[in-house]
Amino acid sequence: MAIREILEVPDPVLKQVSAPVTRFDDELKTLVDDMFETMYDAPGIGLAAIQVGVPLRVLVIDLQPDDPDAEPVACDHDGHHHHHQPTKREPRVFINPEILDPSDDCSVYSEGCLSVPEIYAEVERPARIRARWQDLEGTVHEEEMEGLMATCLQHEMDHLEGILFIDHLSRLKRQMALKKLEKLRKAA
Ligand code: NI
Repeated sequence: MAIREILEVPDPVLKQVSAPVTRFDDELKTLVDDMFETMYDAPGIGLAAIQVGVPLRVLVIDLQPDDPDAEPVACDHDGHHHHHQPTKREPRVFINPEILDPSDDCSVYSEGCLSVPEIYAEVERPARIRARWQDLEGTVHEEEMEGLMATCLQHEMDHLEGILFIDHLSRLKRQMALKKLEKLRKAA
């Protein structure tokens, strides 16, 4: 396993359309392992292969990354600190994902992206979707999704078409976001 470099805007590679996976081999498993390690290290809740420069239709998502550095939380009236179990990781891999029937009603989330660091903006997307994808062995799965999972999968699937969440914003808002990012980079 290795942490790979995450490409950031305006890297033109992020605009590439990713190709379907046809070989479910060890190389694919290594890519997925590296993507999880890279995502947890960042940290983020989703990552597409193109974000580490690999133009294949591969996504990893974990909405519950555990945080080993989390401070214990005081949860008691007596003021004693109790250690909580860290949140269990829920790694999910989506290979060649498709959206079958997005709902007409939408939900809005404040989205961010490891390729557009420090920038957050509200994006409207279908609230519910049915997703179909393959796992590391090539087996096909289908599932109804809603809430953050539906939004996150749609955000990651956009990456496969070379689309970033800021591309959903008005031109003015997108330019403001990119200017802010430029300023942050200069300050760093
Ligand atoms: Ni992203």
